[in-house]
Amino acid sequence: MIKQKQMYIITLFVLTLMWILPAFPIINAGVEQDPEIIEKIDSLLTIMSLEEKLGQMTLVSSSFTPTGPVLRDDFKQLVREGKAGGIFNAFGAEYTRQLQQIAVEETRLGIPLLFGLDVIHGYRTIFPIPLAEAATWDPDLIEKASETAAAEAAASGVHWTFAPMVDVTRDPRWGRIAESAGEDPFMNSVFARARVRGFQGDDLNKLNTILATAKHYAAYGAAEGGRDYNTVDISERVLREVYLPPFKAAWDEGVRTFMTAFNEYDGVPATGNRFLLNSILRDEWGFTGFVVTDYTSIPEMVTHGAAVDTAAAAAMALHANVDMDMQAVVYLEKLPGLLKEGRISEKQIDNTVRRILYTKFELGLFDDPYRYSDTGREEETILNQDFLGTALEVAKKAIVLLKNEDQLLPLSDDIEKIAVLGPLADDNFHPLGSWRAAGRREDTVTLIQGLNNYISDKTEIVHIRGVDFRDTSKEGFKEAVELARDSDIAIVAVGEEADMSGEAASRATLILPGVQEEFLKEIYETGTPVVMILMAGRPLQITWANDNIPAIVNAWFLGTQTGNAIAEVLFGHYNPGGKLPVTYPAEVGQVPVYYYHKNTGRPKDPDYRFTSKYIDAPTSPLYPFGYGLSYTTFSYDDLKLDKNVLTPDDTLHISVSVTNAGKFEGDEVVQLYTRTLAASVTRPVKELRDFKRITLAPGETTTVDFFLHPSQLRFYDSGMNYGLESGTIKVLVGTNSIDVLVAEFELELK
Ligand code: GLC
Repeated sequence: MIKQKQMYIITLFVLTLMWILPAFPIINAGVEQDPEIIEKIDSLLTIMSLEEKLGQMTLVSSSFTPTGPVLRDDFKQLVREGKAGGIFNAFGAEYTRQLQQIAVEETRLGIPLLFGLDVIHGYRTIFPIPLAEAATWDPDLIEKASETAAAEAAASGVHWTFAPMVDVTRDPRWGRIAESAGEDPFMNSVFARARVRGFQGDDLNKLNTILATAKHYAAYGAAEGGRDYNTVDISERVLREVYLPPFKAAWDEGVRTFMTAFNEYDGVPATGNRFLLNSILRDEWGFTGFVVTDYTSIPEMVTHGAAVDTAAAAAMALHANVDMDMQAVVYLEKLPGLLKEGRISEKQIDNTVRRILYTKFELGLFDDPYRYSDTGREEETILNQDFLGTALEVAKKAIVLLKNEDQLLPLSDDIEKIAVLGPLADDNFHPLGSWRAAGRREDTVTLIQGLNNYISDKTEIVHIRGVDFRDTSKEGFKEAVELARDSDIAIVAVGEEADMSGEAASRATLILPGVQEEFLKEIYETGTPVVMILMAGRPLQITWANDNIPAIVNAWFLGTQTGNAIAEVLFGHYNPGGKLPVTYPAEVGQVPVYYYHKNTGRPKDPDYRFTSKYIDAPTSPLYPFGYGLSYTTFSYDDLKLDKNVLTPDDTLHISVSVTNAGKFEGDEVVQLYTRTLAASVTRPVKELRDFKRITLAPGETTTVDFFLHPSQLRFYDSGMNYGLESGTIKVLVGTNSIDVLVAEFELELK
């Protein structure tokens, strides 16, 4: 009862102040905020103690599902003492309600907790990993997937997801490529927007929307050697043209929080980097949300060698307007002393707490702290058929057909016996990927289950695992080989374990782990036609398979609906239309290998020695960016530009005719690239500008239109001025980044 009395006093106090203070719009760096909320916060700040303010700046993990190296078992006590304003890795309506009750009913001011969780590609209904979602080239669908994830999470007490991860990366050795939308800045920007829209919706007060986070700011995907947490040393031009655009896109879409990256940029750890956090994020972009660190990344600035001690690191972070300390609890411990020494100011702390409390008001937590923790709503929301239907649609669209020699696929219904082999054939755990939130393995439809859901009554499925992921034992080979020899088709499901990609999972090789490739070869030697199903969180080096195996299906990690999606593709119920959002290297030695490379002065020429190539490996990748086959074929004709000369105020209308020349209905992703032939700085040989996934019936022809505005072609010139230069621009349109029709126009500045 005591709590309600105090809450009543606070509310009365706030209302009184509101009546006194004139309501006026708060313009904070160009984004109008609700002045009434600001007034409520400012009046609350006047009665908060320093420790209570620092508590709001402290985020600690529940021990439910650890996601980092350091765990504290005192998180509930911190909440009880008003020293923690957010808890992450706690979920479920009942558990979050219990923790919320501690904050609301046992602390002096009863300020509600914020609950955060890594809802990266689904909450309980698990979608394909983000790299696979990008392979759909269907942002509207991925917005819908994010909406679904938000609805499930919000029904389970979660207010905030640490997603979307918008780190461009050109390096498949980096395990977190699995969480990204691949190598292209434009693609990552498109999917960043879609995911922010999906998670946050149009009203954070709604019970099916949650706060989103643009992470990891910034350039985390540029780690040298593809080694997680490693140094990032890139030019400001590359930072601004490649790694920042998806973050800017997320903010343009209204993302409420940013998370700092573990890496340094230009010698300064991102968590204390004022160029990134103040100059660009706050001053240039006008970001008004709050910034949370990554897991213990404030004290890690001491380890980086950027601060002499944790107090200096805490000061560095606060001066960079980092608002919330994830898991390290150094703000709570060190800021009081820094304040006394005059190294920081109370105003800085108030600005930080104001940004954090603003989101709690937006979520409606001050009206009803328990509104997201409703077991009844949770029960009726989780894993409903609509969500499972959406997950199946995403999974099917994410599948990329890499090879289909002599149209081995789709499999006919009258096959008598199918051998299903390999470590991923009957696995319900790894297909959920490395960030599975509340996902449960028992919900997964395995490949075997999916095949059994779709086979005709004429077909027998026989499963033998035959080989493991890492174990080099070949004991299971013999039985599997005999089964394959005695079958009409051998489906071999190989790849990585879920935790071989994701965080702290960089690899120095890209080969199939263990002895899986040797297993594949022995199955191939039986002469039974082989369909390879590849499941992994990154492109793998499958050159031998590409030379020998007739059909190869890239199934990434497809989540809860894995088996149904693959079975629909294999039996022709769905014609695959996915395209690679990342280049597939032929050899790991080619890395980094990406489509928007520079031409250099001696571009590769296999027939001429003094050119940029390898003498002991192919120079071209195995599969290019944007590549993916279909059961049908598409032809491109009649690329047209409506102007030959463009001024900066014009818009160029580009059209191309696309025909489904085969006998299956199918999806095609029509891709638009441009190339600036010459400028004051060299430009990539091509840059993705737009794309459209279309569906065509057999024999159908359609005209696909794109509209290109010169502002999309801007770049940072030799003086780091962002703009345009006159010159010739090539327009390239096609089915992937290599097979394109080409036209050109002149861009003429006045
Ligand atoms: C991890 C990850 C980050 C995640 C956070 C909380 O270290 O780097 O992506 O959101 O901790 O789990």
